[in-house]
Amino acid sequence: MKILVIGSGGREHALAWKLLQSPSVSQVFCAPGNGGTAALVNGQNVPLAETDFAAIARFALEKEIALVVVGPEMPLAMGITDVLTPQGIAVFGPSQAGAQIESSKTWAKTLMIAAGVPTAQSQTFSNLDQAKAYVQEQGVPIVIKADGLAAGKGVTVAMTLEAAWIALEEAFQGKFGLAGSQVLIEEYLTGQEVSVLALTDGRTLRSFLPAQDHKPIGEGDTGPNTGGMGAYAPIPWVTPALMERIDQEILIPVLQELQARQIDYRGVLYAGLMITPEGNPKVIEFNCRFGDPEIEAILPLLDTPLDQLLLACTQQRLAEVKLAWKPGFSACVVMAAGGYPGHYTKGHAIIGLEAAAATGAVVFHAGTQAQNQNLVSSGGRVLSVTGTGATFVEALEQAYGAVSHIQFSDCYYRRDIGYRVQ
Ligand code: AMP
Ligand code: GLY
Repeated sequence: MKILVIGSGGREHALAWKLLQSPSVSQVFCAPGNGGTAALVNGQNVPLAETDFAAIARFALEKEIALVVVGPEMPLAMGITDVLTPQGIAVFGPSQAGAQIESSKTWAKTLMIAAGVPTAQSQTFSNLDQAKAYVQEQGVPIVIKADGLAAGKGVTVAMTLEAAWIALEEAFQGKFGLAGSQVLIEEYLTGQEVSVLALTDGRTLRSFLPAQDHKPIGEGDTGPNTGGMGAYAPIPWVTPALMERIDQEILIPVLQELQARQIDYRGVLYAGLMITPEGNPKVIEFNCRFGDPEIEAILPLLDTPLDQLLLACTQQRLAEVKLAWKPGFSACVVMAAGGYPGHYTKGHAIIGLEAAAATGAVVFHAGTQAQNQNLVSSGGRVLSVTGTGATFVEALEQAYGAVSHIQFSDCYYRRDIGYRVQ
């Protein structure tokens, strides 16, 4: 079977890598892919933009692609599934209507309230003065969120009124384009964050191992938020009983509410959760795709062939497929360009990947491209280096051991991934 993966990051490299381990997968194309997907045995990049749906459909039909796996949220929010499915192409990823769970925070909030799902209280504003008055009344800390897609950068946790004013002014002045013309002001939650990624075929739901992401750029979880600087799975203190509560209290009610709205959702329901100090799960956000870098940490532990799971979602047969995991732990360290998530430079030669791979870790490429036989950086997050082991310490040692072999100019990474579990 031939599969087409849409996207160009670490998540897509990990998906393509895992799909190619399945005996039933003969080839994986990535559109547009990166330096890592190009180098996979039986992997091939295709120079198609992830939002050029007409060209993607033509390619999928011509190459007899059995499954299109959509990595990022943007094509989903723009309706790739709605365009490809009527042409007889199997797509893993929700329709445009379903993708609103990520593309509009207000829509997601309304859905969660209708489903009776625990989530932070919030109000939506499209006027600066009213928003400021509300913040004044609520006090700080408080959370300001652009309503639409802002590449993980539209959220400000404001510890002071000044920070809240700046966030509101920037959003209404167009820092996030149309995505910030509506702003959600949300109650500040405390606790530990957990990402639960669940597969669904619209009827059945299967949760992946829980993962924890390190979003802030700085060690000790300080500084501005990024797309994610590292992740690990599973989380030792997230018990089977807590996972059952997350399924029963959050994921299943959301799926049922989607069904009640006649939304055909075949893809990932990603719940970003806060586990409160009392031990109760509350939703911070939903995403309509796999988490990045969470999935780079999760996939090396997956035992069931990934193509079987994803195909079953598109065919509404998920209930028939067993989800199995390998024992052990995994940890992923993101190597980024200095300056990210602010200004950074690209085009730096990357060396040491062979020595890194010899450690047993897997080096997923997030922002790389091949240039005249060399591999160079082409994004803010450059590599996602994942180690596995029988214990967390082993997994982290393998990941950091591999990182120590890799060099590119101005490279930055956090040295404390997994500090909460050690
Ligand atoms: P999001 O893009 O919605 O995942 O938000 C980015 C980060 O902001 C989250 O991972 C949390 O660390 C933080 N955050 C978002 N919403 C809240 C909230 N209501 N309370 C506390 N922290 C939050
Ligand atoms: N790592 C966070 C996300 O994928 O949204």
